[in-house]
Order: sequence, then structure tokens, then C-alpha cells
Amino acid sequence: MSFSAHWLELREPLDHAARDPALRAAAAALLRMPRVATVVDLGCGTGSSFRALAPHVDAAQAWRLVDHDPALIAIARRRIGAAAAVEAHPLDLRTLDALPLAGADLATASALFDLVGRDWLRGFVAALTQARVPLYAALSYDGHMHWSLSVADDAAVVAAFNRHQRGDKGLGPALGPDAAGALAEALAAAGYRVLRAPSPWRIDAAHAAMQRELLHGIATAARETGDIAEARVAGWLHARLERVGSGTCTVGHEDVLALPDRA
Ligand SMILES: C[S@@+](CC[C@H](N)C(=O)[O-])C[C@H]1O[C@@H](n2cnc3c(N)ncnc32)[C@H](O)[C@@H]1O
Repeated sequence: MSFSAHWLELREPLDHAARDPALRAAAAALLRMPRVATVVDLGCGTGSSFRALAPHVDAAQAWRLVDHDPALIAIARRRIGAAAAVEAHPLDLRTLDALPLAGADLATASALFDLVGRDWLRGFVAALTQARVPLYAALSYDGHMHWSLSVADDAAVVAAFNRHQRGDKGLGPALGPDAAGALAEALAAAGYRVLRAPSPWRIDAAHAAMQRELLHGIATAARETGDIAEARVAGWLHARLERVGSGTCTVGHEDVLALPDRA
């Protein structure tokens, strides 16, 4: 599945504000070392995880950027500049054998695990366990969306959107809202010590452009399911767009940090 750099730019400030600070600090503490700390960023996009984590890390860093979109990796590389050593890995996550986990101090991802399927997750956790690498997976969507000002069909549109989230995004039928739970369960079963924390977006009038883009995206996904009549989706979108700028919207996410203490 492809993502536009524009959308990733719109969501980044909300993502960074939403990350659980304690889990982020614990992930950064794993990288406190006298030598260069090596981080693998899975589905790196334009490098949001680098910008979220690197300022909290007190060590020289090398980032292995993994994404199937070379244009996004190129943006990430340019934006990281000389702040860290960068290796580009333009590859599809389906090729689990090719993931550059060996010797890494941390694997990280943000807004990725809700896109993956259960079988892929099983294979990934096996590869991670074999490499004995910790994982910091931020911002998996949890299926909850709430507006302080409600309009007709909020629940029906969110239900359709959540069903769309479970569609195949290239890595098998997606876990969608079940992602953080399934990830935590698989990692615990593999012997990891797992920490979880909510990381909801709190979207207000300051993020009007992002809200508009999000609303169009939700409507498109809801339409694609065919679960709800076009006229109802159109009415919902119209009512929601009229309210951008008033009230707040909360979108649930969860962060997971897994430490291979027992793995
Ligand atoms: C929602 S975006 C998140 C990007 C970035 N981590 C962030 O937080 O801004 C998901 C990223 O995963 C990448 N991706 C999705 N499916 C992939 C696959 N099968 N193989 C490699 N990368 C993939 C996309 O190109 C995109 O950059």
C-alpha cells in the first residue's frame, strides 16, 4: 500500500504529540551506549520515527531505513542529513529474510502494524526473536474514533472504516484495530517483556488541514466497503467537514515496547 508524503507530513505533529512519553523514553534508553546505536525503521516513510526518537537518544546513531517506496526513503535520507548514518533498504516487508535486523540495537515502526496480517506478524516475530532485537512499535490504530460534537452516522461510518482497516494492504488480511493486541500477544509468547500504552491523536482546530484529509480518507474507505449507502457517507462527510474547526476528534492508537529480556 502506498502513502503520500503530504499525508505523512500532515499526521506527523499529531503522531509525535501522541506517542506515550514513558515508552519513548524507555526505547531511547535502550540506545544509551558508548558505540554507535543501530536502529531499523520498518516502513520508515519520510523518517518520522527518526525525528520522534533521535532527539531523546544520547548516542551516535545509524538508521537502517526500510520501505518499499524508494521516493519516501529518499525524503527520509535527505531530512536526516548528517544527523545520523543512514542505510537505505528499499524492500518489501514480505521478504522477511531480507530485513536487516542482524546486529541492530532496536527495531522500530510507527503506524505500520495495523497494516500487517497475522501470518506476516508470526514470521516477523520469529525473525525478531532469532535476532534478539527489541521492538518499539508506535501508533497502531485501535479502532476508536470519537468526535466531541456528534453528527448522524458517526458510528456507522466508523464501523465501515474499521472493517476496511481489516482488508489486505499487501501483507495479508490486515489486523487493523487488533494489531497492538496481537503484536503484544505474539511477542509475549516468544518470551519478550511487553509494555503497552495508549497514544491517541487529539485533533483540534489547529489541525484543520489534517482533519479534512482524514475525513476524506475515512469516507473513501467506508464507501469502498459498500456497508453503508453512498448518500449516507456523503451526508456524513458534509456534516463533518462543516464542523472542522469546532470541537475535537480523538483517534485511538497504541504503542508497544518489547524487550527480549526473556526471549
Ligand atoms: C502509515 S505509513 C507510516 C510511515 C512512517 N512510519 C510514519 O510514521 O510517518 C506506512 C509506511 O509503510 C510502508 N509500507 C507499507 N507496506 C509496506 C510493505 N509491504 N513493504 C515495505 N513498506 C511498506 C509505506 O510505504 C509507508 O511508508
